[in-house]
Amino acid sequence: MSSKPKIAVVGCGYWGPNLIRNFNSLAECHVARVCDMSEDRLRHMKGLYPQVETTTDFKSIVEDDSIDAVAIATPIRTHYPLAKQCLEAGKHVFVEKPLAAAVSECRDLVDLAEQKNRTLMVGHTFVYTPEVRFMRDMIASGELGEIYYIATQRLNLGLFQKDINVAWDLAPHDLSIILYILKDKPIAVNCQGKAHVMPGLEDITTMSLDFSGGTFATINSSWLDPNKVRKMTIVASKGMLVYDDIQPIEKIKIYDKRVEVPPHYDTFAEFQYSYHYGDMRAPYIRQYEPLKKECQHFLDCMTSHEHSESGGLEGMQVVQILEAASESLSQGGARVEIAVQ
Ligand SMILES: NC(=O)c1ccc[n+]([C@@H]2O[C@H](COP(=O)([O-])OP(=O)(O)OC[C@H]3O[C@@H](n4cnc5c(N)ncnc54)[C@H](O)[C@@H]3O)[C@@H](O)[C@H]2O)c1
Repeated sequence: MSSKPKIAVVGCGYWGPNLIRNFNSLAECHVARVCDMSEDRLRHMKGLYPQVETTTDFKSIVEDDSIDAVAIATPIRTHYPLAKQCLEAGKHVFVEKPLAAAVSECRDLVDLAEQKNRTLMVGHTFVYTPEVRFMRDMIASGELGEIYYIATQRLNLGLFQKDINVAWDLAPHDLSIILYILKDKPIAVNCQGKAHVMPGLEDITTMSLDFSGGTFATINSSWLDPNKVRKMTIVASKGMLVYDDIQPIEKIKIYDKRVEVPPHYDTFAEFQYSYHYGDMRAPYIRQYEPLKKECQHFLDCMTSHEHSESGGLEGMQVVQILEAASESLSQGGARVEIAVQ
């Protein structure tokens, strides 16, 4: 690989332009080409980045040996075939979340990347936010104590997807955050949901996860809510934390609240005294653009050959939970065990 890798970005719809903007802002790489099936989208990108070549021909990227890496931001069903061709051609690959549409596809991509000694990374953007890193460090330090449960809400009106339900669209964010901060894996999932607008495609889902370490988590996802909500509550033995991503500042609030079960109590009144109400604090967290950090991390992994913080295996873990959740949905919310990969 040359000292300044050449990157191609495939998919210039809603999200792809964010990847183009961030890779383009990094001095260590060169965005050489962008690809989309839509001439309209390519014209728009050419207007923003006149120096970047545009093409509707994905094959021309695969066959171009001067392109070192490809970032894919196309609909989920296309992730596997596009990523596979790029890896087979010896390119490093960044794929938007979720990594693929099935665990078997993820396994194939992970194996191929290993065989070709190439970086495979998935766009678990929230893993690169300062708030999620803060939560990870706080949990690891033991300050919160034992994590009892995590409850997340990711709700808004739209954007309806045509081929995946809301769980596959929105829950990858919450799943990647929870797996990252807990450093634990779920052993089972239950998922219920309902399709109100498009037949067969749930626009609201509720997922619950049982972790091997005892933590319980619930993930509520909706495309059918009047308000945009991006909230995560962590309830633990020594304190509680709320991460509200909608807030412009002070997104994290830590509550010195807990329930202490007294060793002995005779009456219900005595039990009441064991509620602890303390202060709330909103820690200062230095801000940066997570997507830029994510793109930089991809470039770093390409050169160092280190495993990415959101590599193929992490991508596969998220898809494994989504697949089990789909099975649970089809069984009316039944508990589905998740095998260790
Ligand atoms: N990380 C995040 O926060 C985040 C946010 C939104 C979307 N995403 C992910 O980004 C991906 C794309 O989502 P989107 O909302 O931008 O979708 P979109 O439908 O707006 O855009 C997809 C684009 O890909 C193009 N395309 C489709 N098939 C193609 C092919 N074979 N070759 C070339 N171009 C092709 C389409 O023409 C379209 O312009 C999805 O995986 C989604 O989950 C990630």
